[in-house]
Amino acid sequence: GNYGGPLRPQVHFSPPQGFMNDPNGMFVDADGVYHLYYQYNPTAIVAGNQHWGHATSRDLYTWENQAIAIFPSGPTEGIFSGSAVVDVNNTSGFFPNQTNGVVAIYTLNTPERETQDIAYSIDGGYTFTKYANNPVIDSNSTQFRDPKVLWYPGTERWIMVVSYAQEFAIGIFSSPNLIDWTHESNFTRHGLLGLQYECPNLVEVPVAGSSDYDTLFVLLISINPGGPLGGSISQYFPGTFNGTHFSAIDGAARIANFAKDDYAAQFFSGIPGSSNHISIGWASNWQYTNVLPTDREGFRSVMTGPREHYLKELPKVGLSLVSAPYNATAAVDQELAYNATLGNGTLFVDYGAVESRALYWEANVTGLTDSSSLQGSVNFTFSSSTTGEYVSGGTWVSTGDVWLDRGHSTAWSNPFFTDKFSATGLYDGNGTWRISGIVDRSIIEVYLNGGEHVATSVFFPAEPLDWVTISVKGLNESAQASVGVWALQAA
Ligand code: FRU
Repeated sequence: GNYGGPLRPQVHFSPPQGFMNDPNGMFVDADGVYHLYYQYNPTAIVAGNQHWGHATSRDLYTWENQAIAIFPSGPTEGIFSGSAVVDVNNTSGFFPNQTNGVVAIYTLNTPERETQDIAYSIDGGYTFTKYANNPVIDSNSTQFRDPKVLWYPGTERWIMVVSYAQEFAIGIFSSPNLIDWTHESNFTRHGLLGLQYECPNLVEVPVAGSSDYDTLFVLLISINPGGPLGGSISQYFPGTFNGTHFSAIDGAARIANFAKDDYAAQFFSGIPGSSNHISIGWASNWQYTNVLPTDREGFRSVMTGPREHYLKELPKVGLSLVSAPYNATAAVDQELAYNATLGNGTLFVDYGAVESRALYWEANVTGLTDSSSLQGSVNFTFSSSTTGEYVSGGTWVSTGDVWLDRGHSTAWSNPFFTDKFSATGLYDGNGTWRISGIVDRSIIEVYLNGGEHVATSVFFPAEPLDWVTISVKGLNESAQASVGVWALQAA
């Protein structure tokens, strides 16, 4: 792959060439290598002919492309989305002499039906052998897909969540060995339905700021089409899981991203001792992914950056899934500008000489004393000094509102390509208000208050952006703002 094109993200993963959609099979191995597989069409730059592409990384920002990991056996087969686990204790029996065996659990799509199949890898996830007695689950349905498997210590069973897409049901199955599966329950018709449920994830995460829970489970369900902003988006439900049933904490549908390029996110499954709270999503939308202008650079679609998650009690709305940028400093090449006491002022940086044209930035307001008189705003603009194109956004401290505008890039337009997004955060009285983000050639991600709200948007400027302005206005005298901009490494 050539990662030098002007629209090619540098610290967000994109396929070497061809078309990519959902992240699949994500796991961390015992050496700390993250494995990312993905829905991959290696032969055309539109969706179809699904394989599992593969890439590895140690920091989740620098990626190494690997050979395709799982291939369809014929022209009418698709290796659809799914997950992978390290079978440390050889529950499957595939790995008599090793602790690093990997089992992939995926949907085999054919014109006749969708079944859940498995394949195993004795070389740590680089090559796979399909299990001889596939499928492991067959519900005689054409709309039954996207198995995500986790280990549940409480019952010492593998647990699978899998979608009956057009029945708006998430099936929960259990297994001692990844081969024999028992249907335990369904979680049906919760939250937003759209027209299909896809790509469920079940994960246990810590809860901050709650006296009631140390951890809770989160059930993530992607819906497509029919997301509230059009096309595809993910929703999630905090709740409890007892080994057979998931119960949502309340009836609310919570949306994971306030823009519209974040779908089918998956959590890394970890071997014991490693973190399993990091996710990566597909930074695209089924409404327009097949016509994005990056085909002229030989690829379509990119992944979101890695995000670290926990649940947090927020004022008024209660439990929310925080998505913080995971270890962004690992991607930093050098500091471009930093002002610890900017107060009300503006920082300008010309980053035309930065090879990656990718930046991490943040603005931290501190010393807010009185919520009744909170004031001020932080605004940012990334622009092209040649064409005047830009992406911009900001937040008002007084109302908590945050916005993003991607509607001023000229390389491409499409009727479904919504320009402006917004959300409302809430000041929790702790004296601080933060906004940060990553801009990476043709993708921008914005995080309010360390990820209480997140926006992920792709955008397509005719010329590379090279100029950033971050300005802080209207703060009370007691308040202070520190603002910094860092160059990220080139791919
Ligand atoms: C979601 C999805 C999955 C399916 C895969 C096919 O984006 O439609 O439900 O497994 O893509 O590529």
